[in-house]
This record gives sequence, structure tokens and C-alpha cells, in this order.
Amino acid sequence: MNKSSQPRLRFFAQASSQRHIPTQDQYLYRAPEAKFNIAIIGTGTIGQEHMRVATLLGRAHVHGIYDLEQHSLDAAQAEYSTYSVRTLIRYKSLTQACEDPEVDALFICTPNFTHFEVLKTAVQSGKPIFVEKPMATKLADAAAIVQIANEYSSFIQIGLQYRYKAQYVEAFHETLERASLGKVKTISMSEYRPPFLDKVKQWNKFNEYSGGTLVEKCCHYFDLINLMAQAAPQRVYASGGRAVNFLDLEYKGRRADIDDHAFVIIDYENGVRANFTLNMFCPDFVEEMVVTGEFGRLLATERFDFHQQQPATASISLELGENGASRTTTLGYPRVVEQSGHHGATFFEHQAFFDQMEGKAADCATPLQGMWAMIVASAAQESMQSGQPVVISELITREKLASLLAGKQE
Ligand SMILES: NC(=O)c1ccc[n+]([C@@H]2O[C@H](COP(=O)([O-])OP(=O)(O)OC[C@H]3O[C@@H](n4cnc5c(N)ncnc54)[C@H](O)[C@@H]3O)[C@@H](O)[C@H]2O)c1
Repeated sequence: MNKSSQPRLRFFAQASSQRHIPTQDQYLYRAPEAKFNIAIIGTGTIGQEHMRVATLLGRAHVHGIYDLEQHSLDAAQAEYSTYSVRTLIRYKSLTQACEDPEVDALFICTPNFTHFEVLKTAVQSGKPIFVEKPMATKLADAAAIVQIANEYSSFIQIGLQYRYKAQYVEAFHETLERASLGKVKTISMSEYRPPFLDKVKQWNKFNEYSGGTLVEKCCHYFDLINLMAQAAPQRVYASGGRAVNFLDLEYKGRRADIDDHAFVIIDYENGVRANFTLNMFCPDFVEEMVVTGEFGRLLATERFDFHQQQPATASISLELGENGASRTTTLGYPRVVEQSGHHGATFFEHQAFFDQMEGKAADCATPLQGMWAMIVASAAQESMQSGQPVVISELITREKLASLLAGKQE
């Protein structure tokens, strides 16, 4: 977890009772001078979240924006003007955005099927690059991105920011650093949530543009499970499909084909067994991770009452029986951080990105980790289609990934 180095109350500076404190009199309220300029490519839902979070964090200015849609640019600029007085450059082309000498880093926030193509232009700049998850829709493209990253003069970070959610930071610490559970044996993860939201051109309702539900959304969870298992996946079986959502959605003459529920089982090389449950026809968001080891059980939860717009609640419970002290802890980041996006995870993702830019050690999702998450997701998609388990070594051979992976899970 990345920490700020000085005591600051810069979030309190936004309180209505504190706005009279002039800049020259600020100490606790003053944000550090931003060292970097970033350009946002794709100013939809997550592009706007990155603009908001970058501004809140204050380590970088949003210098310019690029999108194919005028409407997305207008909406992003209007939202930006509610919290910043800075002017934004609107780039006329992707190349212009990437090559702007004033810009130090690029954030690719376009739909999944565009990531690889946009990235190919972005790497010509030699600048640090952030690419939203999933890194690609196909494993072959993900592998090509890992190859590009291996040879790149700067770095590429993938937008797998759930690892910074408060409950998972604590779950990893408890399990992997304190080893409170002893050796981990089983991991059980679930997400119950409402359907995929509306998107520009409804790209997330189609397997072709999204990579499929398990790639598009669940790469987050497979990344978490991979990190917790600390081993390479060996075999994946999944059952799932389309039960409720978008059954009648037709966009430009094409029927939506995106799945809305799944059960996935993953066997890891070190004997850890994991499962993942997805249900996308629920009213609100509930995420859970249950980790069980030799000495006890850990439960990490997050609940977000979407309809009441209550702040999310997160907790971890440690149940150690006769092996130690059990406890339940409620977790949270400052409200302003949580509200900036993904319950604060995106804020800490930015900390990690800018730490990496400054050459500091940071826990950032690497392209290789992004590809491992995609390997599990793609195997699960394949298993749902065929009804058969997928042996990961066979998938790796078939997809010609062996030399890239060299048998290792990061
Ligand atoms: N990390 C997370 O938790 C998280 C959350 C939401 C979305 N995402 C990811 O972010 C990406 C964008 O999702 P979104 O929800 O913002 O979608 P969105 O539809 O709201 O916005 C996408 C924007 O990209 C623009 N766009 C499309 N192709 C483009 C191109 N070639 N060049 C420039 N702009 C282009 C669209 O016009 C649109 O404005 C997806 O990969 C998605 O999976 C990640």
C-alpha cells in the first residue's frame, strides 16, 4: 500500500467552512505541486474517473483529452470543470495526444477491443502507459502486449485496481504476510451485482468487443485469486450463460450475446482450490472473498447499496478458533477518496502509478499479471462453451504462450 509521505489534510480543504483559507496560508490543506501531466484517451465512465482521481491526488495534472465521440469529450470537460479551473487540450488525433511533448504519461481508457491498437500507437511515444483492464479481448493480443512491455523503454501498468480495495489489502496482509491462516488451501470469491451498465455503442453487451463477461469484468477477481493462491492455475472448469439480462437487446441489428452468470472452479499447481461465482441480475453490489487455510478462515466483504447510494461498507473477519484471536474489522478510506471511484481503489492505483514514474517500488499490476488473469478468464469462457475442463498447460501450448510465461506465475 502506497502511503503519502507528509501529514496533510488536503481533503478537508474542500469543506465549506475552510474555503476562506488563502493559498499562501495553507499548510495542512496544500496539495503537493503536481509533477506530471497526463493525457486521457477515452473519456467515458472510467476515463472521467481517472481525471477525477488524478486531480484529487494532485500528483499529476490532466493536460489533455482524446475521444472519438464529441459527446464524451463534452461530458468529461463539463464534469472536470466542476472540480478544476484548469483548461484541457482536446487532441484532434490519437497520435497528437500521445506525442504532445507536455504530456508525461498516457492513460488508455477506451473499450477493451481497442486497447491493443491504441497501445501500439501509444508505445511510439516511449512514455509510461496505463491501460485499462482487460488488457485485450484475445489472449494472442495480451501476449503481444506482454512482449511489447518486456521490450519497452518505459513501463505499462494494467488497470487491475481491486487489489487496492481496503478489504483485499488487509486480506493479503493477513494471509500472505502475517500468515495467520497458515498455508492457504481454498479460496472462494463471489460477485453479486446489477447488470452491465450502458456504454457508448454498447460495446460491453457483445463478446467480440468485450472479450466475454469473464474476461471483461471478472479479470479483476481472477487477478485477486491468482495473487492469493501464489501459484499458476492448472485447470479451469466453468458453467454459466445468459439467464436474465439483455435477452432482448438488439444494437444496430445485432443481438447482445453477453453472459450474466457463471460458476468457475480453478485448481492451482500448489494444490490450492478456488471458485468464483458471478451473478449479474441482483439489485445491489456484494463482493466476497473467503480464504481458508490450515489454521482458520478469512472473510473479506464489500457491500454497496446502489439504490440508496449509501457509501460501500467493507470488512474482514478472521476466524481462528483455538489457533488465535478472532476478530472482525470494519475498513474504509476517507469518504472523499472512496467517492472518487471504486471505493478508493483507483486513488491508490494512481499512487502506485506515479510512484513507479518516480522510480519508487510500487505494487502495480503488470502486463504479465494481466495476462494470467486473462488466461483464467479465457479458459473459463472456453469451458462454459465446451462443457469440459480446460487444462492450462494445453491452452498455453495452443496459444503459443510458453516462452512468454516460462511456467511462472508472478
Ligand atoms: N478498472 C475498472 O474497474 C474499470 C471500470 C470500468 C471500466 N473499465 C474499463 O475501461 C474501459 C472503458 O470503459 P468505460 O466504462 O469507460 O466505457 P465507456 O463506453 O463509458 O467509455 C469509453 C469511451 O472510449 C471512447 N472510445 C472508443 N474507442 C475509442 C478510440 N479508439 N479512441 C478514443 N476513444 C475511444 C468512446 O467514445 C467512449 O467515450 C474498458 O476497457 C473497461 O473494461 C475498467
